[in-house]
Amino acid sequence: MEEKRLAKEVCEQLIQAAYEAKKMSYAPYSNFHVGAALLGKSGRIYPGCNIENAAYTPTNCAERTAVFRAVSDGEREFTAIAVAGDGDDYLAPCGVCRQVLQEFAEPEEFIVLMAGKGMDYRAMTLAELFPASFSKADLEK
Ligand code: THU
Repeated sequence: MEEKRLAKEVCEQLIQAAYEAKKMSYAPYSNFHVGAALLGKSGRIYPGCNIENAAYTPTNCAERTAVFRAVSDGEREFTAIAVAGDGDDYLAPCGVCRQVLQEFAEPEEFIVLMAGKGMDYRAMTLAELFPASFSKADLEK
């Protein structure tokens, strides 16, 4: 499916960038290290890692770190994100990150690449991952 929408080489480059970003993960409480790599429509790749906090709730997921970094750099339109963890299974973005991604994505087009500890990954659109959601369009109704 991802080959149709995003070239395999681009997917692999994003997964690789997510693994690189994971090296910066600050996760002393969960010990669950996550990296993300967000592809802007400009072609630029924005890395992000999870950043935990002693008070727990201020913790920021890798995906949101990447989005906030990109938006604060002036980019607001994105094509895809790769997320990589250390587990055996593919790592899917949490609900909060899906909501944040949706703010800056066209859900039918935006691709989420989910990886575990290997280079193998699963691809879904944001629309598939986050159906019947609330977005800025709902504020205009
Ligand atoms: N985490 C992410 O960074 N991304 C996800 O998609 C799921 C969870 C982080 C948050 C926290 O630092 C740790 O993983 C355990 O939940």
